[in-house]
Formats: sequence, structure tokens, C-alpha cells
Amino acid sequence: MERVTQLVTRLQHICTSLGETAMSDGNLLWNKLSTIVVIGGQSSGKSSVLEAVVGRDFLPRGTGIVTRRPLVLQLVKIDKDEEWGEFPHAPDKKFYNFDEVRDEISEETDRHLKKYSNRVVSGDPIYLTVYSPNVPNLSLVDMPGLTKVPIDGQPASIVQELEDMARQYIKGENAIILAVTPANADLATSDALRMAREVDPSGERTIGVLTKVDIMDRGTDCRDVLLGKSLKLRHGWVAVVNRGQADINNKVTMQMTRQREDDFFNSVSAYADLPNRGTNFLTEKLSTHLVNEIMRNLPSISQYIDTKRLIEDGLSLLRDPAFQAIEQVHQILKQIVAMAVNHPDCRDLLRFFNLKAE
Ligand code: GDP
Ligand code: NA
Ligand code: MG
Repeated sequence: MERVTQLVTRLQHICTSLGETAMSDGNLLWNKLSTIVVIGGQSSGKSSVLEAVVGRDFLPRGTGIVTRRPLVLQLVKIDKDEEWGEFPHAPDKKFYNFDEVRDEISEETDRHLKKYSNRVVSGDPIYLTVYSPNVPNLSLVDMPGLTKVPIDGQPASIVQELEDMARQYIKGENAIILAVTPANADLATSDALRMAREVDPSGERTIGVLTKVDIMDRGTDCRDVLLGKSLKLRHGWVAVVNRGQADINNKVTMQMTRQREDDFFNSVSAYADLPNRGTNFLTEKLSTHLVNEIMRNLPSISQYIDTKRLIEDGLSLLRDPAFQAIEQVHQILKQIVAMAVNHPDCRDLLRFFNLKAE
């Protein structure tokens, strides 16, 4: 199935590179493709989870409301031995230095918010593509955190604004919700779970992530949550340990962080025998889940493309980049369907959805 994953990535890449063009389209193509959306309370560890999956430091991170616009992140696995980031808003530059990626995210956030009379947050996303030999092929969105009370200087409306924004991103049927919940707080108070339940009551699209397992109250652990005894999620829970603020200040590297995470889970008897802990487990789970979801959604994507082509054909917008992207998507879809036809696991699926290879 590796080639299917690659094709799906190309699909997503075309869609994210369309950026605002695609976003302005009433019927978002981008929304048709499965994307992982990270939601949770402020400082629950969302940005840290995302960085851990990418394996690089590149996000503004810290206490308070640091992430102020959604970040749509496309990860593309490449064969070359180099890594860089690209922003559609700065098309002529490749960012080889990930500190510069972080600065660019902050600066672009500020530029945008200033334009709108100094708003605190905005739902307009920043798009970033990271090319690296060390990343899985994934598409993820980092969201500003949810909050129950506005903190200093924020307008009272912000609580609602942040919620509406998150809802916008997770309500789409193709969004996979990564509900980030700190293990050192009560599950019952989790903003992420509350919102995930609201848009996905059956838990079809929700994966629970427990952060900060290392700083739980002494004598407590989250074994029951990981076993699904406290709150059952269809796709289960994954526990992770990322860096605390002191570690970040002391420049503890990503590699050391992963090693420490491993050591932590292996040394605590409540977790040692459980498979669903650690960032590696999470990353693999996400990759598998994303491919399954996309296979499941192929019929609806394919139908959307067909409709789209008919409309665009009629308007003969042949030189429009959006149309060219749609064309490419169509070609790739045909390839995926053709491959799936020959794949024993997919034959029934295709028959079920009445899809044919051309
Ligand atoms: P976000 O606001 O949800 O994006 O959260 P951040 O990723 O910015 O993290 C908020 C704070 O929690 C930062 O100071 C992180 O260093 C800290 N943090 C995140 N994850 C963990 C964890 O697993 N363990 C510990 N000890 N601290 C963490
Ligand atoms: Na934060
Ligand atoms: Mg954040």
C-alpha cells in the first residue's frame, strides 16, 4: 500500500499548495481529503504533540495563547538527505533553518492580525509544507487552544470565537480529531473531548492523546484511560511525554526527548506492558488511520472531482491554477483506483462503492 500513501500525499499536497484559492472555493476540495486536526485546551500540549510527530522544533510554543491562527501542515516524505519548509505566502523561499520557520509563522501571524485591526486570533490558516526524509506522509492542522475564561487583555468574545474556529475545522466528516488532553487534569474537564463528542458523538473520527503523563500527581497514573476503562474511544488513546518549559529553555533536543519518553514509559510499571504509548506509536497510528480514511472517502472525493470538472470545463478555465490542480487530482485518483483494483484488500471495497478503474 506504500504507493497509495504516496499518491494520497501528492493529492493533499496539491490541495494545500492551492492554499487560499482552494479555501475560497465554496466546496472545499481540501475538506474532502482527510486531515488530522489537533484540538485541546490552551497549553494542553497541542503544538508539542505536532512537533513530536514531525521530529523537529519549528512551532511557536509556550504558556498562554501562542498559536493564534490555525496552521495547516503538510508533511512530505522525500528520498533526499535534506529537510526544508515552504510557505505558499512566500513562494520563492525554501526554509532550511527550522528556527526561521518558527519566526516566519510568528511574523506572518502578526502581519495578518494587524491587518484586521489587531485581533487576538484569526481562523484564516497559515499553510506550511515540510519536506524531509524523516517524516511520515501526513496532513495536520494545529489549532489555537480552547479556553473557558478569557485571560488578561483578551476580549470576552474570545472563548466563543476559539470554539467556533475549532468546530469549523473538526465538523467536516473527513476530519480526524486528535483530542489532546493533559493527563494531569481531570478527563471530565477536557475541552477537547467535549468538542469532539459534540461533532463526532459516535467517536468514529476521534483519537485521544494524553499529554504531560510525566507530571501527573505522584501516586496516580493513566493506565485505566489507556485501557479504555475510564472513557472508551473507538480508536483508543495514546499517551505521550514531551518537553516541559524548563527543557525547552535548556534546549533539550528532540532526540533526547524521544529517548526520555521511551525510558519513562518502560520504567513505569503501569505503562511498561501497554502498546499504546509514545510518539512512535502515535505517528504510526495516524499514518494508518489516514490512509484508511482516504480509501473510505475515495467515492465522495471522486464524485466531487467529476462535478468540479464538469463545471470548470463549461467555464473553460483551463489556465486557472485551481483547474490544473483539479486535473492533476483527477489523474492521481484514477491511478489510486487502478491500483486498488489489483489489491485484494480493496477489491471488495471498490465493488461496494461501485468504483471502476478507467
Ligand atoms: P498548546 O498551547 O496546547 O499548543 O501547548 P504547547 O505545546 O505550547 O505546550 C504548553 C506548555 O506545556 C509548554 O510549556 C510545554 O513545554 C509544556 N508541555 C507540553 N507537553 C508536555 C509534556 O508531555 N510534559 C511536560 N512536562 N510538559 C509539557
Ligand atoms: Na500554548
Ligand atoms: Mg499551540
